[in-house]
Amino acid sequence: MRTLFDKTMINKIELKNRFIRSSTWENMADEKGHLTDKLFKVYKDLAKGQVGLILTGYAFIMQNEQPNPGMMGIYNDSFIDEYKKLTDMVHSYGSKIVLQIAYGGTQTKYNTDKRIIWGPSAVPEMETGVVAKEMSKKDIKALIKAFGDAAARAKASGFDGVQIHAAHGYLLSQFLNPYHNQRNDEYGGRIENRARIIFEVYDEIRRRVGNDYAVLIKINCQDFVEKGLTFKESMYVCKELDKKGIDAIEVSGGTWAAKELGFSRPNINSPDKEAYFKSYAAQIAKEIKAPVILVGGLRSIETMECILAETAIDYFALSRPLIAEPDLIKRWYGWDRTKAKCVSCNRCRTSEGTMCFFKR
Ligand SMILES: Cc1cc2nc3c(=O)[nH]c(=O)nc-3n(C[C@H](O)[C@H](O)[C@H](O)COP(=O)(O)O)c2cc1C
Repeated sequence: MRTLFDKTMINKIELKNRFIRSSTWENMADEKGHLTDKLFKVYKDLAKGQVGLILTGYAFIMQNEQPNPGMMGIYNDSFIDEYKKLTDMVHSYGSKIVLQIAYGGTQTKYNTDKRIIWGPSAVPEMETGVVAKEMSKKDIKALIKAFGDAAARAKASGFDGVQIHAAHGYLLSQFLNPYHNQRNDEYGGRIENRARIIFEVYDEIRRRVGNDYAVLIKINCQDFVEKGLTFKESMYVCKELDKKGIDAIEVSGGTWAAKELGFSRPNINSPDKEAYFKSYAAQIAKEIKAPVILVGGLRSIETMECILAETAIDYFALSRPLIAEPDLIKRWYGWDRTKAKCVSCNRCRTSEGTMCFFKR
């Protein structure tokens, strides 16, 4: 019987349990995206807290494209030495760490007047109204190269893998979304075309890091907005990535415009509200070989044990609960199996950094 504390592998990464810290923007890096002591401590607390795998906050891969303040960067080689210290520290506690790499796009209001922001088509973003510059084929090539460069730097920095951020309405997710992607070329139209950029990003990353390095992706099961990515289309993308050799797929859903159906749903205060993407992730897990990571509203051991027993889902990723209690998994290893203290109030994003409202 599978248990939450099984030792497992994702590609060559040895994991000590099935708990993953889902990627969480900390808003604590300096203005160029470099590490600060405060940010280093967040990762130290997580590693000491016994979470099997830490997915970092989304890191920007092009210097002039930072969708939010305080994000980590990976846009040039100046990051390698400092990230080496970070990954060594995490490894010294027996935890593993994967860098999430992203191009944000127009789902932001940060410095939008000072930057040219790429998108699949020049349409206003559903929530912010920011209009993208429609990417040329040359821009697409440059983006793919930037993802590859970022992954190679992550590997040189000692990260155990990379995760492509293709969820939540950021640029790669916009390509999948028919409202944002109104292109008439081979990158638009039917899902085979809308997903093309993601497949090319994956291929380039794989070419740069090799077969025995973990490459993960985070993707929406659907966008939960009108004219958004559908579940059937998401399933197609997951199956194609599986054929290509993706090492794990984290199944999330929604964008900022999806409001209460978005990715960080509020008020998860009863077992029936937990694991809100479970049915989608379970269906995907049934259809593909690669391990599936479920995220979204996971709060109690009992819920996750049940999912492990009843579905083919392999891993459980948590974001807000580990903001409130970075030592949650250590607590669950011990005698105290009570559910996470997080009440999903969504007040963790602050201008001084991401932190639990009740601990301020
Ligand atoms: C403060 C905050 C920052 C987040 N930053 C990211 C991010 O950088 N990348 C990402 O893929 N998801 C990000 N998310 C979404 C989470 O990874 C996760 O998908 C979502 O919160 C649902 O999981 P939870 O119920 O365990 O919080 C963020 C969520 C929060 C609350």
